[in-house]
Amino acid sequence: MKKMWAGRTSGKTDQIADDFNSSIRFDQRMYPEDITGSIAHAKMLAKQGIIPEEASAKIIAGLEGILADLNSGKLEIDPAAEDIHMFIEETLTDRIGQDGKMLHTARSRNDQVALDIRLYMREENGQIKQLLKDLVAALCDQAEKYKASLMPGYTHLQRAQPVTFGHQLMAYAYMFMRDLERLGQMEERMNYSPIGSCALAGTTYPIDRVYEAELLGFKAPVANSLDGVSDRDHVVEDLSDLALVMMHLSRLSEELILWSSWEFHFVRLADAYTTGSSIMPQKKNPDMAELARGKTGRVYGDLMAILTTLKGLPLAYNKDMQEDKEALFDAIDNVELCLETFIPMIKTLEANEKAMHQAAQKGFINATDLADYLTKKGMPFRDAYHISGQLVALCIDQDTVLEDLPLETYKGYSDLFEEDLYQAIDLHNCLAKRTSLGGPTPESVQKQVDEVRGKLAEEN
Ligand code: ARG
Repeated sequence: MKKMWAGRTSGKTDQIADDFNSSIRFDQRMYPEDITGSIAHAKMLAKQGIIPEEASAKIIAGLEGILADLNSGKLEIDPAAEDIHMFIEETLTDRIGQDGKMLHTARSRNDQVALDIRLYMREENGQIKQLLKDLVAALCDQAEKYKASLMPGYTHLQRAQPVTFGHQLMAYAYMFMRDLERLGQMEERMNYSPIGSCALAGTTYPIDRVYEAELLGFKAPVANSLDGVSDRDHVVEDLSDLALVMMHLSRLSEELILWSSWEFHFVRLADAYTTGSSIMPQKKNPDMAELARGKTGRVYGDLMAILTTLKGLPLAYNKDMQEDKEALFDAIDNVELCLETFIPMIKTLEANEKAMHQAAQKGFINATDLADYLTKKGMPFRDAYHISGQLVALCIDQDTVLEDLPLETYKGYSDLFEEDLYQAIDLHNCLAKRTSLGGPTPESVQKQVDEVRGKLAEEN
């Protein structure tokens, strides 16, 4: 196939080189952005008198026709095209003739692709942010529902101190709120227009970059043309933000997997988000959570790929940069898939409050409160800690719990123990007394829910 860029060379390339070089397989998804960018470019060129008004009008109508036909499926993308930019420009010229050849004035594919990626990312980022908001809203609803459901909080995966299920869920809500904030900040930094950087050194045509940036909804043009075509920081930043989203989802997944096991039995995932086994009839597997945990590695890989590709690249455009898109698209697709699955899975999740309460009782998670009881009666904390530990060891030995040890036994360890110790180690009291800011009480969880809901409302 003869290339549009045939000139210095014959443009006759080996089929194997064409296939190797082509990015149409994956960059075709940016056709709406490519057309949006080209329409703005045609408007700017006409406004500046660089191309005739009539030619610009024909180009715009032609591009709109291509967009409509691609959307409806009437026009198919040619898999033999070099990339989406070439395909659209060639189709335009086929359709409207000579005027189509004016579109690429004062432009290069280098600034064109840089523009398309930013437009595409802005679009997808809007979707991901919405999905994150929906996930946080679902977490808030469940946290409110289970704000008083006592459960053991863990450290080292050993039962540690009493929390509530609502408290635990809100911890995740805050993580995803930070993700939301990060993606917003990334978008703000990205929201500058590279178009008009041209190949690398700007152009001799009297273009209006500010006008074109405005047409495309950017804050301003990128200030340096070399930076405009070389910069992929936003891709790195987005992938890093998405890696964090996945890390958060993966930690939540891990807990859902543990909690839905018979060993914990803290939550029931709706049947709709679990699978059975082809051989073991008793199975209900948390596949969605496992798959999300698995995909996390893949998204981390996408981040490493782009970082490695960019390392050591001289300015400005190098073909290596074509490799940015598959990693970016892969991460975006997978994050969207995971979030779309998690929202209904969280909404339909049910807690087994009885099992949580039992686990809390058996876990000696009131041992710290027992030590605090002695401390408040005047014993130094280290001594109190030691006695409390000895009493736990005694309970384990006698297969009982602190609540069930008789007062005489307590007295054998310290005279400071009185009947009121049972109040002090009652699990619900232990929870209710943890009134410090950010703590696990139902009131505190409600405050957190209200705060996060308020922030979500501000976002909308
Ligand atoms: N397909 C290319 C990419 O994705 C477009 C830019 C090509 N520019 C060039 N000078 N060959 O990076």
